[in-house]
Amino acid sequence: METPFTFGKLAMGDDFTNRTEEIIRLKNNFVSGINTIMISPRRWGKSSLVEKASRMIMQENKKIKIISIDLFNVRSEEDFYRNLAEQVIRGTTTKLQEIISFTKDFFKQWIPKISFSPDFQEFSLGLNWSEVKKQPDEILDLPQQIARAKGWKIIICIDEFQNIGFYSDTVAFQKQLRSHWQKHQDVSYCLFGSKRHMLMQVFTSPSMPFYKFGDMMFIEKISTKDWEKYITERFRATGKEIAPELSSRIAELLDNHPYYVQQLAQLCWLRCDHKMTAQVIDQSLDSLTLQLSLLFQNLTESLSTTQVNYLRALINEETHFSSKETIQKYQLGTSANVSRIKQALTDKEIIDTMQGTGVFLDPMFKIWLKKYYFLE
Ligand SMILES: Nc1ncnc2c1ncn2[C@@H]1O[C@H](COP(=O)(O)OP(=O)(O)OP(=O)(O)O)[C@@H](O)[C@H]1O
Ligand SMILES: [Mg+2]
Repeated sequence: METPFTFGKLAMGDDFTNRTEEIIRLKNNFVSGINTIMISPRRWGKSSLVEKASRMIMQENKKIKIISIDLFNVRSEEDFYRNLAEQVIRGTTTKLQEIISFTKDFFKQWIPKISFSPDFQEFSLGLNWSEVKKQPDEILDLPQQIARAKGWKIIICIDEFQNIGFYSDTVAFQKQLRSHWQKHQDVSYCLFGSKRHMLMQVFTSPSMPFYKFGDMMFIEKISTKDWEKYITERFRATGKEIAPELSSRIAELLDNHPYYVQQLAQLCWLRCDHKMTAQVIDQSLDSLTLQLSLLFQNLTESLSTTQVNYLRALINEETHFSSKETIQKYQLGTSANVSRIKQALTDKEIIDTMQGTGVFLDPMFKIWLKKYYFLE
């Protein structure tokens, strides 16, 4: 039997809840050709949201094509160009003849080689990197050329955009992208990812090529009220019962973190015979904590003693990290050291600074530290 909760893959269909306003905003940007930049910590639901808005808009308007590119594994400029070209072609045609004519019609400086799989269902492009590097224009302008030829609007959604930061000369590369993209009349871009600090630098520093490139969206977590409704309803739909206050408890225990709320709800649902109890929630949370224990142990071992001390202070809700007492109590070294620790933990994506105070990005790590690590 299928379980009613989902995590670790895109939330789609019935698994997708809420985000009404974000969907409206995204769809508006898509229709009006406004570039979007979307940022949120890991596993808060960016990819699911973009996928949802994309499906909706393509169903409503046949002249809008959405092309998705995931930079997760794309670690060089060369890979980027190949991915872009292939995905743009895949997203605009499935006809063999057209694939061939696209490469003939829109590439003049050099012609990419196409290889097809034996059943002709899949293709890949062979690009000569030295040529591409010299003249990437035709690849970058390919979506605009196709959009104009077809009378379409194209939106290119690029996931894990922060990865372009790893390319060897990333600023020059960004300059190259921006100089082309800003001329595209019929193509807009939705760029999203999770490394807030890196992405903020790319999109908000005046000296960077992508400064003021588009509408900046910061995705929030889903509210307790919405989780309450969602979890209660999913239990009901599968013949089990949970009181609304227990549903909201599941969400609150995990700071409303979308991935973990789904995961805990799932564990609770599996353990629940018919009617949910507070005790089962506690057991499920314990079991989840133990499940992740090895992972967190390794993570903690990779941290320095002062970094761990800093986390302990954070858990104890200390606020004045530069005060003598706090520094002494938690053995944080000097106050200059404190900001270094904070920076290191931020770079490792363990904490983030929100409204001036550090918060744990992973609510389960916080629970584990509190319940197991610091108690030992
Ligand atoms: N709208 C939603 N409704 C219900 N659950 C959601 C929703 N959005 C996200 N989730 C939950 O969060 C998980 C992570 O979602 P998703 O992969 O879209 O996040 P992400 O921000 O793209 O993560 P990453 O930064 O790792 O790429 C999903 O598997 C699902 O369990
Ligand atoms: Mg994602």
